[in-house]
Amino acid sequence: MTPIATDDDIKAKLKQTATVFEAALSRHGAQCSGASPRLAEAMRYSLEAGGKRLRPALVLWSCELCGGAREAAMPAAVAMECVHTFSLIHDDLPAIDNDDMRRGKPTNHKRFGEAMAILAGDGLLALAFEVLARPSSDPATAVAMVRELASAAGWEGMIGGEAADVDGESQPPDAGLTAKIHAAKTARLLEASCRMGGLAARADEDSLTMLGRYGHELGLAFQIADDLLDLTATSEQLGKAAGKDESSRKQTHARLVGIEESRKLAQAAADRAVAALAPFGDRAAALVSLARFVVSRRS
Ligand code: IPE
Ligand code: IPE
Ligand code: MG
Ligand code: MG
Ligand code: MG
Repeated sequence: MTPIATDDDIKAKLKQTATVFEAALSRHGAQCSGASPRLAEAMRYSLEAGGKRLRPALVLWSCELCGGAREAAMPAAVAMECVHTFSLIHDDLPAIDNDDMRRGKPTNHKRFGEAMAILAGDGLLALAFEVLARPSSDPATAVAMVRELASAAGWEGMIGGEAADVDGESQPPDAGLTAKIHAAKTARLLEASCRMGGLAARADEDSLTMLGRYGHELGLAFQIADDLLDLTATSEQLGKAAGKDESSRKQTHARLVGIEESRKLAQAAADRAVAALAPFGDRAAALVSLARFVVSRRS
Protein backbone atom coordinates (compact mmCIF):
# COMPACT_ATOMS: atom_id res chain seq x y z
CA MET A 1 0.00 0.00 0.00
CA THR A 2 1.47 3.35 -0.97
CA PRO A 3 0.62 6.67 0.65
CA ILE A 4 -1.36 8.78 -1.78
CA ALA A 5 -0.96 12.08 0.04
CA THR A 6 2.16 14.21 0.27
CA ASP A 7 3.33 15.65 3.59
CA ASP A 8 1.77 18.97 2.55
CA ASP A 9 -1.58 17.27 1.86
CA ILE A 10 -1.55 15.53 5.21
CA LYS A 11 -0.54 18.73 7.01
CA ALA A 12 -3.50 20.48 5.39
CA LYS A 13 -5.83 17.62 6.35
CA LEU A 14 -4.54 17.73 9.94
CA LYS A 15 -5.13 21.48 10.06
CA GLN A 16 -8.66 21.11 8.75
CA THR A 17 -9.41 18.39 11.32
CA ALA A 18 -7.92 20.57 14.08
CA THR A 19 -10.27 23.42 13.10
CA VAL A 20 -13.33 21.15 13.26
CA PHE A 21 -12.10 19.69 16.55
CA GLU A 22 -11.46 23.08 18.13
CA ALA A 23 -14.94 24.25 17.16
CA ALA A 24 -16.35 21.18 18.95
CA LEU A 25 -14.43 21.68 22.21
CA SER A 26 -16.94 24.02 23.85
CA ARG A 27 -19.93 21.97 22.64
CA HIS A 28 -18.52 19.05 24.59
CA GLY A 29 -18.23 20.94 27.85
CA ALA A 30 -14.58 21.86 27.72
CA GLN A 31 -15.31 25.51 28.52
CA CYS A 32 -15.39 24.51 32.23
CA SER A 33 -18.03 27.14 33.01
CA GLY A 34 -18.89 27.21 36.70
CA ALA A 35 -15.37 26.24 37.79
CA SER A 36 -13.31 28.53 39.97
CA PRO A 37 -12.38 31.27 37.47
CA ARG A 38 -8.61 30.87 37.66
CA LEU A 39 -8.85 27.08 37.42
CA ALA A 40 -11.12 27.35 34.37
CA GLU A 41 -8.74 29.86 32.82
CA ALA A 42 -5.72 27.62 33.45
CA MET A 43 -7.45 24.54 32.01
CA ARG A 44 -8.59 26.42 28.90
CA TYR A 45 -5.25 28.18 28.48
CA SER A 46 -3.48 24.90 27.71
CA LEU A 47 -6.38 23.11 26.02
CA GLU A 48 -6.98 25.99 23.62
CA ALA A 49 -3.30 26.75 23.00
CA GLY A 50 -3.29 24.70 19.82
CA GLY A 51 -0.78 21.97 19.12
CA LYS A 52 -0.97 19.53 16.25
CA ARG A 53 -4.16 17.86 17.53
CA LEU A 54 -2.68 14.57 16.35
CA ARG A 55 -4.60 12.41 18.84
CA PRO A 56 -8.04 13.87 17.98
CA ALA A 57 -7.20 13.32 14.30
CA LEU A 58 -6.38 9.68 15.06
CA VAL A 59 -9.70 9.23 16.90
CA LEU A 60 -11.75 10.88 14.15
CA TRP A 61 -9.98 9.32 11.17
CA SER A 62 -10.07 5.84 12.74
CA CYS A 63 -13.81 6.21 13.30
CA GLU A 64 -14.31 7.26 9.68
CA LEU A 65 -12.13 4.40 8.46
CA CYS A 66 -14.50 1.98 10.21
CA GLY A 67 -17.58 3.58 8.65
CA GLY A 68 -18.58 5.77 11.60
CA ALA A 69 -19.65 9.42 11.50
CA ARG A 70 -17.06 11.94 12.67
CA GLU A 71 -19.45 13.46 15.22
CA ALA A 72 -19.90 10.07 16.93
CA ALA A 73 -16.21 10.10 17.80
CA MET A 74 -16.00 13.73 18.92
CA PRO A 75 -16.43 13.07 22.69
CA ALA A 76 -13.58 10.54 22.49
CA ALA A 77 -11.43 13.06 20.58
CA VAL A 78 -12.09 15.72 23.23
CA ALA A 79 -11.42 13.29 26.09
CA MET A 80 -8.15 12.17 24.54
CA GLU A 81 -6.93 15.73 24.01
CA CYS A 82 -7.85 16.57 27.63
CA VAL A 83 -5.66 13.70 28.86
CA HIS A 84 -2.84 14.63 26.49
CA THR A 85 -2.96 18.28 27.57
CA PHE A 86 -2.92 17.19 31.23
CA SER A 87 0.18 15.09 30.46
CA LEU A 88 1.92 18.10 28.92
CA ILE A 89 1.09 20.46 31.81
CA HIS A 90 2.46 18.01 34.36
CA ASP A 91 5.42 16.96 32.15
CA ASP A 92 6.51 20.62 32.06
CA LEU A 93 6.37 21.13 35.85
CA PRO A 94 9.64 21.99 37.65
CA ALA A 95 9.55 18.58 39.38
CA ILE A 96 9.44 16.73 36.04
CA ASP A 97 10.99 18.36 32.91
CA ASN A 98 11.04 21.94 34.19
CA ASP A 99 10.11 23.67 30.93
CA ASP A 100 9.16 27.28 30.25
CA MET A 101 7.58 27.06 26.79
CA ARG A 102 4.84 24.85 25.39
CA ARG A 103 2.81 25.20 22.21
CA GLY A 104 4.61 28.48 21.60
CA LYS A 105 3.47 30.03 24.89
CA PRO A 106 4.69 30.11 28.50
CA THR A 107 4.00 26.78 30.20
CA ASN A 108 0.96 26.54 32.43
CA HIS A 109 2.92 26.86 35.69
CA LYS A 110 4.87 29.86 34.31
CA ARG A 111 1.57 31.59 33.61
CA PHE A 112 -0.58 30.47 36.57
CA GLY A 113 1.88 29.17 39.18
CA GLU A 114 2.64 25.59 40.16
CA ALA A 115 -0.39 24.99 42.37
CA MET A 116 -2.88 26.01 39.68
CA ALA A 117 -0.96 24.09 36.98
CA ILE A 118 -1.13 20.88 39.02
CA LEU A 119 -4.86 21.43 39.59
CA ALA A 120 -5.51 22.33 35.93
CA GLY A 121 -3.89 19.02 34.93
CA ASP A 122 -5.97 17.13 37.49
CA GLY A 123 -9.09 18.94 36.28
CA LEU A 124 -8.43 17.98 32.65
CA LEU A 125 -7.92 14.32 33.57
CA ALA A 126 -11.27 14.21 35.38
CA LEU A 127 -12.99 16.17 32.60
CA ALA A 128 -11.93 13.54 30.06
CA PHE A 129 -13.94 10.85 31.83
CA GLU A 130 -16.87 13.19 32.42
CA VAL A 131 -17.05 13.85 28.66
CA LEU A 132 -17.01 10.12 27.88
CA ALA A 133 -19.67 9.20 30.42
CA ARG A 134 -22.34 11.83 29.72
CA PRO A 135 -25.95 10.62 30.20
CA SER A 136 -26.44 10.91 26.41
CA SER A 137 -23.63 8.39 25.71
CA ASP A 138 -24.41 4.81 24.76
CA PRO A 139 -23.61 3.02 28.05
CA ALA A 140 -21.73 0.02 26.58
CA THR A 141 -19.59 2.23 24.32
CA ALA A 142 -18.92 4.65 27.17
CA VAL A 143 -17.75 1.85 29.47
CA ALA A 144 -15.47 0.44 26.76
CA MET A 145 -13.97 3.88 26.11
CA VAL A 146 -13.50 4.64 29.81
CA ARG A 147 -11.69 1.31 30.23
CA GLU A 148 -9.50 2.02 27.19
CA LEU A 149 -8.56 5.54 28.24
CA ALA A 150 -8.02 4.73 31.93
CA SER A 151 -5.60 1.95 31.10
CA ALA A 152 -3.73 3.98 28.45
CA ALA A 153 -3.42 7.03 30.73
CA GLY A 154 -2.76 5.33 34.05
CA TRP A 155 -0.10 3.44 35.92
CA GLU A 156 0.55 0.97 33.09
CA GLY A 157 0.29 3.66 30.41
CA MET A 158 1.27 7.31 30.15
CA ILE A 159 1.60 8.05 33.88
CA GLY A 160 3.63 4.87 34.39
CA GLY A 161 5.80 5.87 31.44
CA GLU A 162 6.38 9.34 32.86
CA ALA A 163 7.45 7.72 36.15
CA ALA A 164 9.89 5.44 34.30
CA ASP A 165 11.14 8.46 32.31
CA VAL A 166 11.92 10.33 35.56
CA ASP A 167 13.65 7.29 37.08
CA GLY A 168 15.50 6.69 33.80
CA GLU A 169 17.41 9.97 34.21
CA SER A 170 19.57 8.33 36.88
CA GLN A 171 20.10 5.04 35.03
CA PRO A 172 22.71 4.21 32.38
CA PRO A 173 21.47 4.51 28.76
CA ASP A 174 19.64 1.30 27.87
CA ALA A 175 17.81 0.41 24.65
CA GLY A 176 15.30 -1.90 26.34
CA LEU A 177 14.44 0.69 28.96
CA THR A 178 14.11 3.41 26.29
CA ALA A 179 11.71 1.25 24.29
CA LYS A 180 9.63 0.52 27.41
CA ILE A 181 9.42 4.20 28.33
CA HIS A 182 8.35 5.17 24.80
CA ALA A 183 5.71 2.44 24.68
CA ALA A 184 4.18 3.55 27.96
CA LYS A 185 4.50 7.34 27.99
CA THR A 186 3.59 7.96 24.34
CA ALA A 187 2.47 4.91 22.35
CA ARG A 188 -0.33 3.83 24.68
CA LEU A 189 -2.27 7.09 24.20
CA LEU A 190 -1.91 6.93 20.42
CA GLU A 191 -3.00 3.30 20.46
CA ALA A 192 -6.03 4.19 22.58
CA SER A 193 -6.87 7.12 20.26
CA CYS A 194 -7.18 4.76 17.30
CA ARG A 195 -9.09 2.10 19.24
CA MET A 196 -11.53 4.66 20.66
CA GLY A 197 -12.22 5.91 17.13
CA GLY A 198 -12.99 2.29 16.21
CA LEU A 199 -15.21 1.89 19.28
CA ALA A 200 -17.18 5.01 18.30
CA ALA A 201 -17.85 3.34 14.94
CA ARG A 202 -18.74 0.04 16.69
CA ALA A 203 -15.97 -1.67 14.77
CA ASP A 204 -15.37 -5.41 15.19
CA GLU A 205 -12.58 -6.85 17.35
CA ASP A 206 -10.27 -7.50 14.38
CA SER A 207 -10.49 -3.89 13.25
CA LEU A 208 -9.85 -2.66 16.80
CA THR A 209 -6.77 -4.87 17.03
CA MET A 210 -5.38 -3.58 13.72
CA LEU A 211 -6.05 0.03 14.68
CA GLY A 212 -4.42 -0.51 18.07
CA ARG A 213 -1.32 -2.05 16.49
CA TYR A 214 -1.06 0.87 14.06
CA GLY A 215 -1.44 3.43 16.86
CA HIS A 216 1.15 1.72 19.02
CA GLU A 217 3.81 1.57 16.31
CA LEU A 218 2.94 5.12 15.26
CA GLY A 219 3.49 6.18 18.89
CA LEU A 220 6.95 4.59 18.97
CA ALA A 221 7.86 6.34 15.70
CA PHE A 222 6.43 9.59 17.04
CA GLN A 223 8.51 9.59 20.24
CA ILE A 224 11.74 8.65 18.44
CA ALA A 225 11.04 11.56 16.07
CA ASP A 226 10.33 13.86 19.05
CA ASP A 227 13.71 12.91 20.54
CA LEU A 228 15.39 13.56 17.16
CA LEU A 229 13.71 16.95 16.88
CA ASP A 230 15.01 17.79 20.36
CA LEU A 231 18.48 17.50 18.79
CA THR A 232 17.89 18.84 15.30
CA ALA A 233 15.15 21.50 15.44
CA THR A 234 15.04 24.93 17.06
CA SER A 235 12.86 25.95 19.99
CA GLU A 236 11.04 28.38 17.63
CA GLN A 237 10.17 25.55 15.25
CA LEU A 238 8.96 23.32 18.08
CA GLY A 239 7.19 25.90 20.26
CA LYS A 240 8.99 24.23 23.20
CA ALA A 241 12.61 24.13 24.36
CA ALA A 242 14.93 22.12 22.10
CA GLY A 243 18.21 20.50 23.12
CA LYS A 244 17.15 19.40 26.59
CA ASP A 245 17.19 15.59 26.52
CA GLU A 246 20.98 15.30 26.66
CA SER A 247 21.44 17.63 29.64
CA SER A 248 18.50 15.98 31.45
CA ARG A 249 20.11 12.56 30.82
CA LYS A 250 16.91 11.24 29.22
CA GLN A 251 16.76 7.69 27.90
CA THR A 252 16.61 8.17 24.11
CA HIS A 253 17.63 6.13 21.09
CA ALA A 254 19.36 9.21 19.70
CA ARG A 255 21.66 9.25 22.73
CA LEU A 256 22.33 5.52 22.40
CA VAL A 257 22.81 4.97 18.67
CA GLY A 258 23.05 8.47 17.17
CA ILE A 259 20.88 10.46 14.81
CA GLU A 260 21.16 8.35 11.65
CA GLU A 261 20.46 4.98 13.31
CA SER A 262 17.69 6.56 15.29
CA ARG A 263 16.03 7.82 12.10
CA LYS A 264 16.08 4.23 10.82
CA LEU A 265 14.38 3.01 14.00
CA ALA A 266 11.65 5.66 13.59
CA GLN A 267 11.20 4.66 9.96
CA ALA A 268 11.00 0.96 10.86
CA ALA A 269 8.29 1.68 13.46
CA ALA A 270 6.35 3.75 10.89
CA ASP A 271 6.66 0.85 8.42
CA ARG A 272 5.24 -1.53 11.00
CA ALA A 273 2.39 0.94 11.61
CA VAL A 274 1.58 1.01 7.89
CA ALA A 275 1.78 -2.79 7.64
CA ALA A 276 -0.82 -3.13 10.40
CA LEU A 277 -3.33 -1.28 8.21
CA ALA A 278 -2.87 -3.49 5.13
CA PRO A 279 -6.22 -5.32 5.59
CA PHE A 280 -8.06 -1.99 5.31
CA GLY A 281 -6.61 -1.41 1.83
CA ASP A 282 -6.77 2.03 0.25
CA ARG A 283 -9.42 3.23 2.69
CA ALA A 284 -6.56 3.69 5.18
CA ALA A 285 -4.65 6.10 2.91
CA ALA A 286 -4.88 9.06 5.31
CA LEU A 287 -3.52 7.07 8.27
CA VAL A 288 -0.78 5.61 6.06
CA SER A 289 0.29 9.09 4.98
CA LEU A 290 0.16 10.25 8.59
CA ALA A 291 2.65 7.55 9.57
CA ARG A 292 5.07 8.87 6.94
CA PHE A 293 4.52 12.43 8.09
CA VAL A 294 5.16 11.64 11.77
CA VAL A 295 8.77 10.69 11.03
CA SER A 296 9.47 13.39 8.44
CA ARG A 297 7.89 16.30 10.35
CA ARG A 298 10.00 19.34 11.28
CA SER A 299 7.90 20.50 14.24
C1 IPE B 1 4.26 16.13 22.77
O1 IPE B 1 3.19 15.73 21.99
C2 IPE B 1 4.52 15.08 23.81
C3 IPE B 1 5.06 13.84 23.28
C4 IPE B 1 4.43 12.71 23.40
C5 IPE B 1 6.34 13.85 22.62
P1 IPE B 1 2.78 16.53 20.68
O2 IPE B 1 4.02 16.82 19.86
O3 IPE B 1 1.69 15.81 19.99
O4 IPE B 1 2.27 17.91 21.28
P2 IPE B 1 1.20 18.94 20.70
O5 IPE B 1 -0.14 18.41 21.07
O6 IPE B 1 1.38 19.03 19.21
O7 IPE B 1 1.50 20.22 21.40
C1 IPE C 1 6.59 13.51 27.08
O1 IPE C 1 7.80 13.24 26.48
C2 IPE C 1 5.55 12.55 26.86
C3 IPE C 1 4.37 12.86 27.69
C4 IPE C 1 3.67 11.91 28.17
C5 IPE C 1 3.97 14.24 28.01
P1 IPE C 1 8.72 14.53 26.39
O2 IPE C 1 9.03 15.06 27.73
O3 IPE C 1 9.86 14.23 25.49
O4 IPE C 1 7.74 15.54 25.63
P2 IPE C 1 8.11 17.04 25.32
O5 IPE C 1 9.38 17.02 24.51
O6 IPE C 1 8.26 17.75 26.63
O7 IPE C 1 6.94 17.50 24.50
MG1 MG D 1 9.13 14.35 29.68
MG1 MG E 1 9.03 17.15 28.38
MG1 MG F 1 10.65 15.55 23.98
